[in-house]
Amino acid sequence: MRLATGILFTEKQIRQRVDELAAQIDLDYRGQPLVLCAVLKGSIPFLADLMRRLTGDVRLALIEMKSQVDGKHASILFTSRLDLAGKHALIVEDIVDTGITLDYLIKHLEVERSPASIRVAAFLDKPTARKLDVPVNYRGFTVPDKFVVGYGLDWQERYRNLPYITWVEPE
Ligand code: XMP
Ligand code: MG
Repeated sequence: MRLATGILFTEKQIRQRVDELAAQIDLDYRGQPLVLCAVLKGSIPFLADLMRRLTGDVRLALIEMKSQVDGKHASILFTSRLDLAGKHALIVEDIVDTGITLDYLIKHLEVERSPASIRVAAFLDKPTARKLDVPVNYRGFTVPDKFVVGYGLDWQERYRNLPYITWVEPE
């Protein structure tokens, strides 16, 4: 696979969109404590940009997950200290593809952490690949059925550092 020459979303488009999402989130939660539950590692640039634009009482939890390659199961590898009981949780994801990872995480948090509510902010949404019906309450962009990289998203751990979104394609 090699990096495509095209760009799907530029740095400027990303900045503008994250501004809009943050404004909407600020409005919806209006100062109620909000725990951002960021899924490592892909969400890091989105998380960092988003959280600095939020003006309310924002707290942070980090979760590392394994999205199985067989596309059937997900599991949780690590959670930072995380008191979600009675608080509003906002899952911060890089991309929702089949929905398997997110579905697992939502159910896990509901059962194990008893939050007051759970919503999802996904930087990218690839609806054509969806296998499970999951909520995406705040969506950055919808992407076509390509393997997208950049702005935290990787192909074999590469390209996370690109400040824009592009894709990889067969050589
Ligand atoms: P599912 O299929 O469970 O996938 O919704 C979620 C996780 O799989 C990774 N993923 C991608 N990573 N480009 C990437 O760099 C992609 O096009 C892509 N699709 C899925 C990602 O970690 C996501 O959280
Ligand atoms: Mg991810």
